[in-house]
Amino acid sequence: MNSQKIMSEIEETINQCTKCPLHETRANTVPGEGNIHSPVVFVGEGPGADEDAAGRPFVGRAGKLFEEILKAVSFSREDVFITNVVKCRPPNNRNPMPDEMMSCAPFLFSQLQVINPILIVTLGAVPLSFLLEKKTVRITSMRGNLIEYKDGVMIFPMFHPSYLLRNPSKTKGSPKYLTWQDIKEVKRIYDEHRK
Ligand code: URA
Ligand code: URA
Repeated sequence: MNSQKIMSEIEETINQCTKCPLHETRANTVPGEGNIHSPVVFVGEGPGADEDAAGRPFVGRAGKLFEEILKAVSFSREDVFITNVVKCRPPNNRNPMPDEMMSCAPFLFSQLQVINPILIVTLGAVPLSFLLEKKTVRITSMRGNLIEYKDGVMIFPMFHPSYLLRNPSKTKGSPKYLTWQDIKEVKRIYDEHRK
């Protein structure tokens, strides 16, 4: 079976999923989207209100900023694959809970298996701590550093765009400044491993 077909089946399974309570309050599932041949996959936390309404990841205010970050290195959304740890919106935009992330994990892992990226870019602390299986992570010291994950795959932590909305300064050393550095490194690795 080809990759596109497998990805469609994963999406279909997500759309039918009732494994955790988040399905009760969702308007739409948000499986993720983009280039399934991308060497880089971006993983956020979970859908917010705009994403829940649209059924698409990163389309709200944080999403607009995320697109700007991509544009800074001439990436478009369609160049990369964009998804989240959980595929349904946690009520009131709270963080997803450990059991919700565990229920949803097989979907993310199946998506990663199909895409087989060289790099997973985690946006914020939630996807980073989830993938590394650590209760807490220091995003400020870990961002911008490559971490060996498994099977030759690397993780590259970046700040979450929502965090940048709360910290709009672009002065040298600010979170935004550092993010604009980080995305250049992502682009460099993408170009090196373009399939
Ligand atoms: N924040 C996330 O973590 N993911 C989205 O899809 C949107 C906002
Ligand atoms: N704390 C977070 O949880 N995420 C960030 O991106 C930065 C600080």
